[in-house]
Amino acid sequence: MKILIINGPNLNMLGKRNTKHYGELTLDEINKLIKKTYPNVKFYFYQTNNEARIIWKLQAMKNIDALIINPAAFTHTSIAIRDMLEIIKIPKVEVHLSDINTREDFRKIDYIKDVVDKVIMGKKENSYIEAVKYLLENK
Ligand code: DQA
Repeated sequence: MKILIINGPNLNMLGKRNTKHYGELTLDEINKLIKKTYPNVKFYFYQTNNEARIIWKLQAMKNIDALIINPAAFTHTSIAIRDMLEIIKIPKVEVHLSDINTREDFRKIDYIKDVVDKVIMGKKENSYIEAVKYLLENK
């Protein structure tokens, strides 16, 4: 199974961000943990701070079986990412490290949730681990 994991803006700053919400691990450490937990899955990791690059990556996606995306702050703003995700027919999971429903009101707006198969949030790095588990169980 080939899974593309897309991480949006400021997730390259994990480790320096609020550990109460996001945990202690850097993005590189999270990616290593994901690979170690699922050695038989082929992962492609992509992080960008740029909304258009996320859209281009989704448009260019080939030979991928499933998608995990943490759109970060774009979750709350991006109709463009939503519109592109709607076109993609492979299994899709939206992930957040923190629980966006128990934080500021502006984070409760989620433009992505209706165009993915599953949303997993609030478990810090384990949100990604659970997302892979969901995809393996729902192939
Ligand atoms: C986040 C939650 C977003 O509200 C925030 O802007 C992020 C990270 C999360 O993983 O908890 O950058 O997507």
